[in-house]
Amino acid sequence: MVDKRFGYIGKNDYRTSANAALSKEDKGKEVTLAGWVQTRRDHGGLIFIDLRDRSGLCQVVFNPQVDKDAHAIAEHIRPEYVVSVKGTVDLRPDEAVNRNLETGEIEITAGSVEILNKAKTPPFEIEDGINVDESIRLKYRYLDLRRPEMSALIRFRHLVLKSVHKFLDENGFIEVETPYLTKSTPEGARDFLVPSRIHSGHFYALPQSPQLFKQILMVSGIERYYQIARCFRDEDLRSDRQPEHTQIDMEMSFIKRDDMMDVIERMLERVFKETLDRQIKIPLPRMTYADAMDLYGTDRPDLRFDMKIADISDIAGGCSFKVFKGAVENKGAVKGIKVEGGGELSRKDADELVEFVKGYAAKGLAWLAIESRDTAASPIAKFFTEQEIGKITERMQAKKGDLLLFVADNETVCLESLGNLRLEMAKRYDLIKKGVYAPVWILDFPLLEWDEEEKRMKSVHHPFTMPSKKTLPLLDTEPLKVLSEVYDLVLNGTEVGGGGLRIHERDLQEKVFKILNLSDEEIHEKFAFLLEAFEYGAPPHGGIAFGLDRLVMLLAGRDTIRDTIAFPKTQSATDLMAGAPDTVTDAQLRELNIKIR
Ligand code: AMO
Ligand code: AMP
Repeated sequence: MVDKRFGYIGKNDYRTSANAALSKEDKGKEVTLAGWVQTRRDHGGLIFIDLRDRSGLCQVVFNPQVDKDAHAIAEHIRPEYVVSVKGTVDLRPDEAVNRNLETGEIEITAGSVEILNKAKTPPFEIEDGINVDESIRLKYRYLDLRRPEMSALIRFRHLVLKSVHKFLDENGFIEVETPYLTKSTPEGARDFLVPSRIHSGHFYALPQSPQLFKQILMVSGIERYYQIARCFRDEDLRSDRQPEHTQIDMEMSFIKRDDMMDVIERMLERVFKETLDRQIKIPLPRMTYADAMDLYGTDRPDLRFDMKIADISDIAGGCSFKVFKGAVENKGAVKGIKVEGGGELSRKDADELVEFVKGYAAKGLAWLAIESRDTAASPIAKFFTEQEIGKITERMQAKKGDLLLFVADNETVCLESLGNLRLEMAKRYDLIKKGVYAPVWILDFPLLEWDEEEKRMKSVHHPFTMPSKKTLPLLDTEPLKVLSEVYDLVLNGTEVGGGGLRIHERDLQEKVFKILNLSDEEIHEKFAFLLEAFEYGAPPHGGIAFGLDRLVMLLAGRDTIRDTIAFPKTQSATDLMAGAPDTVTDAQLRELNIKIR
């Protein structure tokens, strides 16, 4: 038997239809429905229950005049009981029609009912928008996932995946699984290790990504690979970071940067269309890393609102405000942002914002509330001539009523604090409209960065990234000026995907490893197989990986990736439902030859 909500629905007598599949067209039909009891209302005589299954709710009426036994059983039914009801589809009287419910025009008049299972009173209401501590929701995740908004998210994630699978298949990509028990791959986080019983004292590492395997698959001639791959990273967690996350991982041979970006854009266009019924404009906007840092103070700018960072160092260097003048004299900078119509800051707001930027190492925050082209209100306004204010308003295109906020410090602190203040002001002034998507590619990243703590070069992405042809000659002389063939996709201020062209020649790969300060021994021990593979005809190749959890979160307009994962971990990496991580028995440890210190 086929149901439009579930496809094949079975031949048994639990049910003949999904709840929400019924409408007034079914009037008079004999049906059987199954599900969980959402609510039960006893109207002295008539008992109403709202019956819930994955498709939605349907109202069932128990009338003692229709069936005495069914009505008697219904008296004992409680919320979350699992029941199966046989009855007739009837139209509701006009005044009882519920326009908010898909099945609001009908109800089922019950002829019989069977209680399939009882339920304890749940620790929270099974409904949307509940105000419950997340730890309770995670402990009782099976109840949490019954809530319509969560159930819908799980189905939405499936829809995204289905769209991705279809698109990639149509475009010649082959899904290949790569090992979970493997050797450490360098994505920059700590590894999760799995002890080997057979090889005492040896460990597998869970993959931080399938990076090396997908490159090897290119050497194998697969040409277009993809995988919905689980990746494991032991790092500090945030709302958009989980210890295990899922990537839409891809790799292609014989491509240039723009080919890969084109595939991704078409894939996103498809996903937006098929999941949200939205048309996005491709090609997507592009921005260089240098511009992103300069204008937004971050390599993942949120472009849902404007508010670029402006540099007023040249103007500020000549003013009589010591803080500004001093910063410029010390080879620092004075930079600022404009909040349109922000007006004057109250003492309280000013103090709060100073504290906010101090969190990003700034020493303070100065503000000007613009009153006219060359006058401003502020405790520091007295330090500026009308001409100087005039230059500032011109530089920042500020007009009467706008609020300008400044940080004077070294370049890095100015950008980081203002980049974050920009987001804070957008929140405070409600500048981000719901349902807006602002994707942007970030290109021309530096290949390397200097790690002051470890006193060595590090890859900005990973060590397999191809240096750009133009800047490659600088690798020996000025390595920090070398750019890479990387493309990161940023959506609404979140990095959703990142990848690039890869090195496919042994010599260059070895050279980069050496610049990263890896010893011959380490190179051999960790990457011998890759380097050797490169000697057997490795094609030019490149790829990308999307954070599926983040993509789903953004598409669905949620604030945390935990909502998009059926069984996520908490901020402290625990599974509250299953109770992981956990201790193991002495016998298990002995077998692994492991002793706990
Ligand atoms: P990268 O490390 O940038 O690249 O990861 C790719 C994307 O995966 C998502 N992501 C995460 N999502 C949730 N929790 C995490 N802990 C987490 N870490 C990463 C992000 C990110 O953009 N092998 C390379 C890709 C390549 O070069 O092809 C890689 O893993 O959305
Ligand atoms: P002070 O001279 O410390 O009394 O500071 C005067 C004003 O300048 C206060 O509003 C400070 O928050 C602000 N201020 C102090 N240091 C900085 C800085 N590095 N950048 C921007 N504003 C600052």
